[in-house]
Amino acid sequence: MTNMPADLLEHARAAKGFMPHDEGLALFRHASASVGLGPVLEVGTYCGKSAIYLGAAAREAGGPQAVVFTVDHHRGSEENQAGWEHHDATLVDVELGLMDTMPVFRRTIALAGLEDQVVAVVGRSTTVSAHWRTPLSMLFIDGGHAEVHAQNDYTGWAPWLMSDGLLVIHDVFPDPANGGRPPYDVYLRALASGDFEEVDVVGSLRVLRRTGGDAGDAVS
Ligand SMILES: C[S@@+](CC[C@H](N)C(=O)[O-])C[C@H]1O[C@@H](n2cnc3c(N)ncnc32)[C@H](O)[C@@H]1O
Repeated sequence: MTNMPADLLEHARAAKGFMPHDEGLALFRHASASVGLGPVLEVGTYCGKSAIYLGAAAREAGGPQAVVFTVDHHRGSEENQAGWEHHDATLVDVELGLMDTMPVFRRTIALAGLEDQVVAVVGRSTTVSAHWRTPLSMLFIDGGHAEVHAQNDYTGWAPWLMSDGLLVIHDVFPDPANGGRPPYDVYLRALASGDFEEVDVVGSLRVLRRTGGDAGDAVS
């Protein structure tokens, strides 16, 4: 496997977002091994930081199959809203009075030269997953971190992982002192299903492989 190209490393480091560099490199590494087998899908685009690591893997793999879909309504999670811990006032559409991360995302991906590899899907995760039918080689869950959203992302998207596909979950904190529970609960749910085995841990990132079922089969 190749290393992440220097130009994209710079863009990834410079991008606005919540992805620590070591975890981003793990995304690149696992996406590099997956993306030749089918599309990678990310839930939770924000401004495109993690999408650069994933898109870099697609660019290196080359070919029309090598693509990353990234799903977000671009209105921000609860913690991104005004008055909350992760609010960024520069991301507010003043006229609408709503968060809008889409313009920064588009600019970030264009500057990185990844518009052919990273495809934005704008909408609620549950709306898009309800209509999704394409087998995925890798699923990265980093969307809403409330219990209902994290669980819905797993229920809606994990069934589309192909056999041996990778389920990657961000912000998994076994110690509640380090962060919220929902991503950890989803991680435990996937392991308890018996259909996933853990293959890697980097920071708060957990990488599981689908060992039971195939794309289109429900997950428990
Ligand atoms: C933690 S941020 C993603 C960070 C990004 N992966 C990065 O590395 O910078 C979570 C994103 O999920 C989106 N989101 C939250 N709930 C969602 C939902 N139900 N459907 C679609 N997107 C959602 C928010 O708009 C926000 O941009």
